[in-house]
Amino acid sequence: MGQETKEQEKFVIHGGKKLEGEIEVMGAKNAALKAFAASILFNEPIIIKNCPFIEDVFRMMELLKMLGAEVASIGKRDFKILGNMASSYVLNSEISKAMRSSIVLTGPLLAKFGKVQFPHPGGCVIGERPIDIFLEGFEKLGAKILNEGENYVLEAKRLVGAEIIFKKVSVTATETLMMASVLAEGKSVLYNTACEPEISALADFLNLSGARIKGAGTYKIEITGVKNLKFKKPYVIISDRIEAGSFAILAALLGKEIKIKNCDPEHLLVFLEHLKAAGVEIQKGKNYLQISASKKLKCIDVKTREYPGFPTDLQAPFVALLTQAEGKSIVTETVFEGRLNYIEDLNRMGANIIQCDPHRIIIEGGSNLHAREMESPDLRAGLGFMLAAFCAKGESKIHGVYKIDRGYEKIEKRLQGLGAEILRVKS
Ligand code: EPZ
Repeated sequence: MGQETKEQEKFVIHGGKKLEGEIEVMGAKNAALKAFAASILFNEPIIIKNCPFIEDVFRMMELLKMLGAEVASIGKRDFKILGNMASSYVLNSEISKAMRSSIVLTGPLLAKFGKVQFPHPGGCVIGERPIDIFLEGFEKLGAKILNEGENYVLEAKRLVGAEIIFKKVSVTATETLMMASVLAEGKSVLYNTACEPEISALADFLNLSGARIKGAGTYKIEITGVKNLKFKKPYVIISDRIEAGSFAILAALLGKEIKIKNCDPEHLLVFLEHLKAAGVEIQKGKNYLQISASKKLKCIDVKTREYPGFPTDLQAPFVALLTQAEGKSIVTETVFEGRLNYIEDLNRMGANIIQCDPHRIIIEGGSNLHAREMESPDLRAGLGFMLAAFCAKGESKIHGVYKIDRGYEKIEKRLQGLGAEILRVKS
């Protein structure tokens, strides 16, 4: 089903119900998308396992096929990707403008073809989302920017290893320039890199295939370029820590006894510390979380940070929880300047949130939320609206379901499994 059709779909939610049971976490969106992009670096097919069936992955598959690559399903969530078949270095503009992660393809394409053409990447409207760090990094590696504006065109006869110091910590810039450096000549040192687990997982897969990457997961990554990569072992996508965190918040709000399976609590330590400080009882094992709604949620101040800090992707869902906590909480969004653009809708549901500046809000908790009709502005705020709707009395409608489907596989079916009253309805 295409994006436009899904845009006309909405979720109809009846709130106030307690939920219980088990829910499985899927493979991480922000790991899977980069694994597909990495396939371009290889001269042979690669295999990815535990892939989530979400809209962004479907778009990434389409982008690869438009480049001439092939994608074959070889099992329930397993794919063989023939990135080696890619014969074009021009990224499809329409899809790339709707999905920020398209930019991760530029590193592998430049490494493979010595040229790449792409539009300014779009995606969630959570801030201006510049790409200066990418362009500066590519120039350091020896690329020339032939064109800017509607389409960027970069050319590099060959990429030569360099020292790249990131002005700001950027997840996709770290991944993109790390991948571009893997086949460059000589050594690259990337400094002030992002430390997300998805970056370590990507580096592990590339190293297993013959790359020489040291320090992934820290603020300094050293890459010694190699001639080519050799696919050895499938890339099993790590579990989605943002999905797990989203379900943990739902459980803290309405769960009787909810078990969140196939997750990795080690990737959520700071977030879980905040949830505990908010009065939530958490049992955890190697690959699960067990959470029940706490009688009394306590207010807590939150500041989003790059990993391992409190994830910006869980900020909106956590604000939904704070509207139910006793007392006043201050939430500071330090990563994106436009990621608090959803609070008016929560206030229309009866929340009491004031915005101090583009980065800070104050939430007066203890609100009795009432059902509303809303439009999700982006993926994570959309999930936040769902959480608020599950707390509100009455029937809420959330439009713009496509944005939620970008990162959460069959979310309504999985929540129905916990007893949630949610339906996907054609608008
Ligand atoms: C990645 O986005 C994730 N997306 C985002 O998840 C996540 O919110 C974000 O990292 C932060 O953790 C994917 O991995 C596909 P950034 P990314 O570059 O890489 C500024 C979700 O909901 N910046 O780390 O685009 C930028 O404006 C999505 O799953 C520059 O200034 O984010 C921001 O303020 C949303 N210049 C800061 O860096 C650049 O060239 C961090 O952004 C690049 C970024």
